[in-house]
Amino acid sequence: MKKILILIFILTIPIMSQAEMKTLKSNSSGESFLHPISLTCEYLQNPLGIDVQQPRFFWKVASDQNGAKQSAYRILVSGDPDMLARNKGEIWDSGKIKSDKTIQIVYNGKPLETTKKYFWKVRVWDQDDAQSEWSESAFFSMGMLHPADWKAKWIGAPPEEPYKGKGDPPIPPSPLLRKSFTTVKTIKRGMVYVSALGDYELYLNGARVGDHFLAPEWTDYLKRVQYQTFDVTEMLSQGENVVAAILGDGWYAGRLGPVRWDKNYPRRGPYGLDRRLLMQMEIEYADGSKETIVSDGSWKIYLDGPIRSADNFLGETQDARKQIPGWDKPGYNDSQWQPVSVGTKISGKLVAQMNEPIRVVKKLHPISISEPTPDVYIFDLGQNMVGWCRIRLKGPAGTEITLRHGEMLNLDGTLYTANLAGALQTDRYILNGKGEQFFEPHFTFHGFRYVEVTGLGEKPTPDILTGIVLSSDMQQVGSFECSNPLLNKLMQNIIWGQRGNMLSVPTDCPQRDERMGWMGDAQVFAQTAIFNMNAAAFFSKWVKDIRDAQTADGRYPDFAPQPFNPEKHFSDAPGWADAGIIVPWRIYENYDDKRILEEHYQSAKRFIENIRQNNPNLLWENSKGNKYSDWLNGDKIKAEGYPKSGAAVPYLFYTTAYYSYSTRILAEMARELRKTQDANFYTHLADQINAKLIEKFVLPDGRIQGDTQAGYALALNFKLLPPELEQKAALHLFDAVKKYDDRISTGFHSTLPLMKELVRWDYTDLAYKLVESTRFPSWGYSIKQGATTVWERWDAYVSGRGFQDAGMNSFNHYAYGAIGEWIYRTILGINPDDKHPGFKHFFIKPKPGGSLTWARGEYNSIHGKIHVDWKLADGKINLKIETPANTNATVVVPTNNPASFAKMNPALPKDVKIIKMGKKDVTLSVQGGTYAFVASFEK
Ligand code: BGC
Repeated sequence: MKKILILIFILTIPIMSQAEMKTLKSNSSGESFLHPISLTCEYLQNPLGIDVQQPRFFWKVASDQNGAKQSAYRILVSGDPDMLARNKGEIWDSGKIKSDKTIQIVYNGKPLETTKKYFWKVRVWDQDDAQSEWSESAFFSMGMLHPADWKAKWIGAPPEEPYKGKGDPPIPPSPLLRKSFTTVKTIKRGMVYVSALGDYELYLNGARVGDHFLAPEWTDYLKRVQYQTFDVTEMLSQGENVVAAILGDGWYAGRLGPVRWDKNYPRRGPYGLDRRLLMQMEIEYADGSKETIVSDGSWKIYLDGPIRSADNFLGETQDARKQIPGWDKPGYNDSQWQPVSVGTKISGKLVAQMNEPIRVVKKLHPISISEPTPDVYIFDLGQNMVGWCRIRLKGPAGTEITLRHGEMLNLDGTLYTANLAGALQTDRYILNGKGEQFFEPHFTFHGFRYVEVTGLGEKPTPDILTGIVLSSDMQQVGSFECSNPLLNKLMQNIIWGQRGNMLSVPTDCPQRDERMGWMGDAQVFAQTAIFNMNAAAFFSKWVKDIRDAQTADGRYPDFAPQPFNPEKHFSDAPGWADAGIIVPWRIYENYDDKRILEEHYQSAKRFIENIRQNNPNLLWENSKGNKYSDWLNGDKIKAEGYPKSGAAVPYLFYTTAYYSYSTRILAEMARELRKTQDANFYTHLADQINAKLIEKFVLPDGRIQGDTQAGYALALNFKLLPPELEQKAALHLFDAVKKYDDRISTGFHSTLPLMKELVRWDYTDLAYKLVESTRFPSWGYSIKQGATTVWERWDAYVSGRGFQDAGMNSFNHYAYGAIGEWIYRTILGINPDDKHPGFKHFFIKPKPGGSLTWARGEYNSIHGKIHVDWKLADGKINLKIETPANTNATVVVPTNNPASFAKMNPALPKDVKIIKMGKKDVTLSVQGGTYAFVASFEK
């Protein structure tokens, strides 16, 4: 028991910040019941270089008293930390504002100045008007707010000549760039603003600046190029300084997209071939003077460095014989280097990166090494991951070591690479014979579990290799555990899939030559992503990528960024394009982010208007792009004993269902933005679409054409039917699962709706049967086959049959991982409330079922931590919950004997009210706090 308690403690730690822990422990001031903690600005902790004039502030309020509420707050912002410590906010002193808001507080002080750093703190008042201490102070700094602030020029190698050879232009070595400068005065502050066309790594006096990888990350470079901001005060020294950089192809100049679409797509240079650096360093001296060092014609460049070629798909080759000791430090003689070429044709707007950068988020050690053929060693990292390997090597000069990366092994134990298509995922190191060295790539990433190493000449030990896991570094905010280890593994697989596929943009898969921001995958996974990690900033950035790819007539792309001319290709696929409506709405629901709705509304409306104007008869027949439909549904499964048809929902029903769903969301957006006319118009439109859909596809007995699981699931989940038909359709849904002998036949878009609707219509047992199943096809089946991430296809690998078609067979695709949302909503019972977005009010309605005897977990929402822990024993359910201060929740306690509830809970706290006695549950209202309930519960 003690061990279990320690384990629970360890498991909960990463979800609470240090400040949260500290405040909870020392909460004895006696002043106020509330303490403001976890301050963030624009969803980020102490962000540098933001470029919004009116940033938004957030905090959480901690309390050890149930029912504590905030009644007012006061924010101070100062340009000087000492002044702030003296409680002076010369930039903004909000004064005491009567409000219970702790999130999305819009800055309302003096205009914020370009590149300045600001410090802020907040104090709050509780329901009795007792005042809290001031919070710890936080900060944010401004980026380059005006184009004219940029003095730097784009610099790089001389422009590449148009390639006349056959095939693809070769990848030139990564250029090294450097500039030496001297400072004489005492340095007070140094900030650097940096971007690239391609990827960059920046160095100052021999040390790497920042911990970002693959920066400036992926946007449509023709429209928006991100820059990053770093504080380099401590890295600068008086005397000679050297600022240096290496450039790689990245998403700008490297290969994008699959060969199988079009032989032209994966070629080098989707946005341009010439890799460029942009860097501006602002130095402030102690005497108040300033100096600016920029990328310009005074820099030197070297074109024959050790990184011989690098590409996201192909991998990286390094030749250690080309290493140049000290090139990035003071004292190196660069007189033989050539001057840089200055300028670029790129017109993209420079914007600050306002979401978590790609960082190393974990390191993995091999669990075994095998030798399937002589001198070929395969390291098993035990986990399908994304990133690369760091390897310790030694050997004579010219020795070539090759690392190939794959997700699976063939039956003979060799590396399975057939599913990688055009992505070679191969790193090569040529040694220089100068003793032991560590190697790792700079400008590539791979999706893999197994690493095949050749050229070693001797059997390696596992410690020479480490898996370096890269991901957009979002804070993990969700956790889940229960009595069935299969479901625990499933959640781990989902989280690993999210980690690996959220690398700057939400991608479909991280391994084969694709890795695009497929919208259909992201829209169905978005809520799971939000439960697992704080994804507000990540998706806010991606919604801009979506807008950048919107066509002139309003169509959204199938993936974003969309580098292949959205006007002509890959736009407006039903179920994919709709992410442009669904994802911003998820941000609003979960984070109460009105700003994203304001910024996005006109774009969303143009999307719906284009469909409306092209489809006067209310069915989405025209202006629809590629047909993917309910992707990879049961009809695509190739396995003995599994029905060959009967799973695919009629396409026109599917497209029109999305048209209705998105239109209804648009109406909700309009309502939130108080655009009443639009709200009424689009509500009416959605009603009309539904009427048409019913007329065309639904029989009076509730049967939907095709009689598929998907059809009923979508109709119910998208609220397409009136109540009398819903009831009937739910029965057909149940039958449709029975028809498949209690197996799933749904695709990417209908699986989560199926699972949710089974629970809503009281077929919870059947839903649990599906989620706990290990029979083919199921999540459990993949886990039984050893899956450590969620597979793209239900039948990616079938025992006895082997791999699916290698042309499209990813073992790390998050779309079916959308079941994560169901686990949070059903097993833990945590549900947001659209009427009170941002978890200001929410529901806790766990539905125990299947084999489960206990479950626990949490979601650290934008308002604070929601913890749920239930146990079934001796005919009872014990439910313990923790909800954030300053929120309200509706708790639905499941029980077979509601009448006995009051007797079993004689001493309900005064802030708990029984609001409804159902047939199978008791509904309570609670304030923020810690509560325990017990109820009779027979399985
Ligand atoms: C991707 C999918 C994507 C689809 C469009 C595939 O190649 O991997 O996940 O949504 O194309 O149907």
